[in-house]
Amino acid sequence: MQKDSLLPTGKGPRPPHPAQAQGGTRDGAAAGPWREPDPDAAISIRGLVKRYGTATAVDGLDLDIHRGEIFALLGPNGAGKTTTVEICEGFRRRDGGEVRVLGTDPAEASRRWKAQLGIVLQSGAGDSQLTCRELVRAEASYHADPRDPDEVLELVGLTEKADARGRLLSGGQRRRLDVALGIVGRPTLLFLDEPTTGFDPEARRQFWSLIRSLRDLGTTMLLTTHYLDEAEALADRVGVIAHGRLVEVAVPAALGGRGQAPAVVSWTEDGVRRTADTATPTAFVRELATRFPGEVPDLAVARPTLEDVYLRMIGHEQ
Ligand SMILES: Nc1ncnc2c1ncn2[C@@H]1O[C@H](COP(=O)(O)OP(=O)(O)OP(=O)(O)O)[C@@H](O)[C@H]1O
Ligand SMILES: [Mg+2]
Repeated sequence: MQKDSLLPTGKGPRPPHPAQAQGGTRDGAAAGPWREPDPDAAISIRGLVKRYGTATAVDGLDLDIHRGEIFALLGPNGAGKTTTVEICEGFRRRDGGEVRVLGTDPAEASRRWKAQLGIVLQSGAGDSQLTCRELVRAEASYHADPRDPDEVLELVGLTEKADARGRLLSGGQRRRLDVALGIVGRPTLLFLDEPTTGFDPEARRQFWSLIRSLRDLGTTMLLTTHYLDEAEALADRVGVIAHGRLVEVAVPAALGGRGQAPAVVSWTEDGVRRTADTATPTAFVRELATRFPGEVPDLAVARPTLEDVYLRMIGHEQ
């Protein structure tokens, strides 16, 4: 690499996944210790491999998503999130590994299985000559026990646009329509691939509250998002994926050792902004408070955000 190159230095080829290194008997499956897919999980994935030509988009991914949880899949552009999600939805064929979604292999799934899923694709529903209400009613008609279409339109904030044609909606309104179409069938398992792209801040908060109510009703959700605040607000667990592999799964508060990370205390003293890293912020602030007669000026205690630890993890993976 030239000295003045602006490109970051590469770290050489990545080591093979155990599935490839140890040459398991199943194509692309993690060779040992092999765990069978969990039949009780909503989604259970072992050694998933997907190639597009010579490029490997998913590279031996293992993942279990429990029934009733909201799981957020995080990862940079091209990491393999949509590919993984679409394989689980039965839209894409895999090249290796095992997948069970609601106990069934999506590659061999029936219409009855599919009726239990709600799907909000990253690409969205596209233009339509039909109105929002017509589209939601049509989707409802495919399901045995659908939600009331008008209620669903209200839930996503589209009541005023119920008679507008899909193609005339704004970007954010179209995304709301996608969400409406995903939930009208009363799914057991809801896939949401970047559902809030284009939402204004108020719509995003409304969507969060809708997702929480769906969880209270027992719906399992697999969400992908580039908004770390969204993952933090909604997810019971998050998984970080990079180069088609799962880097870590944790509750948002513990990802990347976040729970043990030192706190940063900052305050103003003698007109100067001061900061200190401490593992014991309570003791530190108690001690600090003795130096001031009243309030400690501009006191703040901060921990690394989910975005801080995520960016650090992804940085190590580049
Ligand atoms: N139909 C396809 N044909 C060929 N390559 C594809 C196809 N779909 C995806 N890929 C490639 O597979 C890799 C993973 O793509 P994928 O869409 O799964 O990523 P992603 O994590 O969802 O990214 P984003 O955050 O941008 O949505 C990328 O390198 C992408 O270029
Ligand atoms: Mg994607």
